[in-house]
Amino acid sequence: MKQSILKVVILVLLVSTAFVISAGLNNAQGSRDQDSRTATIQAAPPEKTVEQVFKNIKVLNGTPQSQLYPVMRFMAASLGFQCGSCHVIKNGRGDFPADDKPEKQF
Ligand code: HEC
Repeated sequence: MKQSILKVVILVLLVSTAFVISAGLNNAQGSRDQDSRTATIQAAPPEKTVEQVFKNIKVLNGTPQSQLYPVMRFMAASLGFQCGSCHVIKNGRGDFPADDKPEKQF
């Protein structure tokens, strides 16, 4: 009688160990999938630079294009300026490539 209880306990332990191991393997598989997704993202082409996207760039060459507006906002906020302090504003719209205002000159 005692021996058969022992057999049942061992069987239960074996089955639960198998579950734990298979769950572990599934997780490892999941993280491998994530690695291959990351590799795909890293293989994406590099972001365009500001001079590839904007018309009249002389200084910020090589800067990722997504950084142009943050740079402009940072510059404006640091100086207590508005966009129109350096850029020509015509009919309520900014003519950002224009170099007419001396404030835009470095
Ligand atoms: C202190 C002056 C200054 C302020 C304030 C400023 N800018 Fe600029 N901005 C410049 C200069 C200088 C350039 C040219 C950068 C270069 O040649 O690399 C430029 C370039 C740009 C360009 C690219 C134009 C092109 O096509 O060549 C955009 C768009 C722009 N600014 C938007 C803004 C916006 C929006 C704001 C307000 C949040 C702003 N700027 C505030 C000086 C300023």
